[in-house]
Amino acid sequence: MIRTQHLSRKFGTMTALDDVNIHVKPHEATVIMGGSGSGKTTLLRLLASLECPTSGNIYFSDESLVGIRQKRLYELRAKMGMVFQYSALLNSLSVFENVAFPLREHTDLDDFIIQTIVTMKLEQVGLRGFEHMMPSQLSGGMAKRVAFARAIAMDPEVVFFDEPTSGLDPISAGVISNMILDLTKKAKMTSIVVTHDVHAGLDIADHVILLWQGKVIMEGTSDMIRNSDDARVLQFIEGRPDGPIPFSRSETAFVDDLMHKPGTVRMG
Ligand SMILES: Nc1ncnc2c1ncn2[C@@H]1O[C@H](COP(=O)(O)OP(=O)(O)OP(=O)(O)O)[C@@H](O)[C@H]1O
Ligand SMILES: [Mg+2]
Repeated sequence: MIRTQHLSRKFGTMTALDDVNIHVKPHEATVIMGGSGSGKTTLLRLLASLECPTSGNIYFSDESLVGIRQKRLYELRAKMGMVFQYSALLNSLSVFENVAFPLREHTDLDDFIIQTIVTMKLEQVGLRGFEHMMPSQLSGGMAKRVAFARAIAMDPEVVFFDEPTSGLDPISAGVISNMILDLTKKAKMTSIVVTHDVHAGLDIADHVILLWQGKVIMEGTSDMIRNSDDARVLQFIEGRPDGPIPFSRSETAFVDDLMHKPGTVRMG
């Protein structure tokens, strides 16, 4: 469905992704995990063609996304749905109009059909009856579900989720995880989920990709990850503060920064 070839992304001198080669299979839930700053969102944005790599390539059903024409990219985007890290609803539009938005953007369906589709999608996420509410009136969990309904409005082939359960109570997080499972198993969509939530991630994953400092350190089924004896994987799974994964990712030594050595950022 989607694969990457020697994919790298730099921001200035910072290498956010380094030679990533992954393969996302259709009708599976692929879960991308890793610590904060490990490159998860960057990878997701590249897979969704929201930004360009510094080097390497991404293929969507064997079609290269690098160098693709704008018109073709727009056509491919209609096959992709996205739930962003902070829901990213359009604040000036009602719940109904947020979910209708991709349909109005990508199709010329008449209002009656749009209304039917929006009602179906809101029913799917348990929010039928909330059409007239504004994003500011929603709880965090409801906003995520509206974002979910919007992402699946076009019946996409693949849906990208960035931290779909973060900031939610365990029940709301469980509801979202079940919705992702239903989407993948029953509706046969392909889902790519970025999450910090190790347990939720391992529960829904057919395939796990574990990132560390922009590199894939392990790939496999949830059981392979759970049974790994790699010290970095164990530290991440067990959430231990000490281990081979450092808390700070600064490229200069702390003492050099304190001494204002050349090349370091000075305050004031
Ligand atoms: N637009 C950008 N400009 C500069 N640096 C960026 C940009 N986007 C990401 N980075 C850097 O790339 C690295 C990876 O960031 P990314 O957002 O992919 O991490 P993440 O794994 O999603 O982290 P989190 O779990 O905290 O969301 C970080 O060091 C970040 O500062
Ligand atoms: Mg992120």
